[in-house]
Amino acid sequence: MTATPARDTPAQRHVNELIEWLRIPSVSSDPRHAPDVHAAADWVLKKFNAAGLETELIPTDGFPLVVAQTPPVPGAPVVLVYGHYDVQPPEPLAKWTSPPFEPTIRDGNLYARGATDDKGQVLTHIQSVCDLLARGETLPLQVKFLVEGEEEVGSQNLEARLESLRDRLACDCVVISDSSQYADGVPAITYGLRGIITFELEVTGPNRDLHSGSFGGAVMNPGIALARMMSSLVDSSGRIQIPGFYDDVQSLAADERDAWQKLPQDDASFAAETGVCATFGETGFTTDERRWARPTVNINGLVCGHQGDGVKTIIPSSALAKFSCRLVPDQAPEKIAAGLREHFERHAPVGITWTLSIGHGADAFLADRDSRFMQAARDAIASAFGREPVLIREGGSIPIVTQFQQTLGCDCLLLGWGLADDNAHSPDEKFRLDDYHRGIQASTMLWKTIGKL
Ligand code: BES
Ligand code: ZN
Repeated sequence: MTATPARDTPAQRHVNELIEWLRIPSVSSDPRHAPDVHAAADWVLKKFNAAGLETELIPTDGFPLVVAQTPPVPGAPVVLVYGHYDVQPPEPLAKWTSPPFEPTIRDGNLYARGATDDKGQVLTHIQSVCDLLARGETLPLQVKFLVEGEEEVGSQNLEARLESLRDRLACDCVVISDSSQYADGVPAITYGLRGIITFELEVTGPNRDLHSGSFGGAVMNPGIALARMMSSLVDSSGRIQIPGFYDDVQSLAADERDAWQKLPQDDASFAAETGVCATFGETGFTTDERRWARPTVNINGLVCGHQGDGVKTIIPSSALAKFSCRLVPDQAPEKIAAGLREHFERHAPVGITWTLSIGHGADAFLADRDSRFMQAARDAIASAFGREPVLIREGGSIPIVTQFQQTLGCDCLLLGWGLADDNAHSPDEKFRLDDYHRGIQASTMLWKTIGKL
């Protein structure tokens, strides 16, 4: 049994509110959930309104932006908290211990889709500001909020609106909690993220599924063609074969490599935690280098042929791969896409046709490691987590973050309260309640430390 605070404590209210938000299945990629995505926006809008912030629901061509702010404080810094109310699809549902949209507490963890990514994490900042206002305290800085509903699908509508919102969102520093701690008990500030570009490759062969006895061996099988095209993208030492792929890759600075070597990293526990029998990646790089600073290609989904029970002896008429490349600083998504098309033109087998669709792209992100906001964040995190944070990069992408740097000309702080095994994008996503509460504390401290700058 885990200790549960009495119903009316602030901690219990914080948990109850998160549970309420998590019950809303705001899956942005699934049109059937569109009303739920709107409901999740309304939930956060109401939370801001109840706390007396100046709020606005800004429509876009997709899901709305929730914008809120505390009163300006002349001469003090302005911080913009960014987060997202949309979540990844919960499938495969059978792999969840409790249903994804029925938040459940087990062993001090709150399980639900969106628990760590990102409702639980962005809510820490919302709670800290709303609580300070409710206690009648004056904040030593102005805090603005931007909570969007399309981060998990590439943030293109926010990107299109950003220029027009430049004054509304003007700030000295963006604060984002949508990453994680380095390890349990080792809090982190993330100064780099990888970029991304997503693709779908469809291979088409015969005009219908064919009997594999009557036709097998006489026509190209689209599944085999797709497998061959996909496997041609990477060699056995983990090097990507797309022409020009590494041309612009920024190499890792020696001081970064040295600093990462000193992190409490251990390949055996990394393998054990992910359940793989051995780690694998590009020769010549450590696991952290591979996941944070080297580009990759990954198959995200494959669709081909008979998916039901039992045997069905067919040559499927088509095959589809959904895949993506994670990119590192200076790689341009458009250039990678052009190289990929050229690669498939060379490597497509005869007897099939193929179409490549190019999805959303985002540049990799690097922040100034020595900004004045970094030190303020270190102090706030150290006081809430009882340990100085380590400085790391991460391999995931937050598409809008480089646009913030460019359009708003601000510093960026990525402060992750979650854990690497919180199962973001996986079944049994969770957020440890202690981390939620520590996140709220760290956020409260952060307003004080930044207010003193
Ligand atoms: N919270 C993640 C980004 C992240 C992941 C940061 C891991 C640090 C470590 C974010 O919500 C996310 O998943 N973004 C997508 C963006 C994509 C769909 C354009 C991603 O990285 O896959
Ligand atoms: Zn996220």
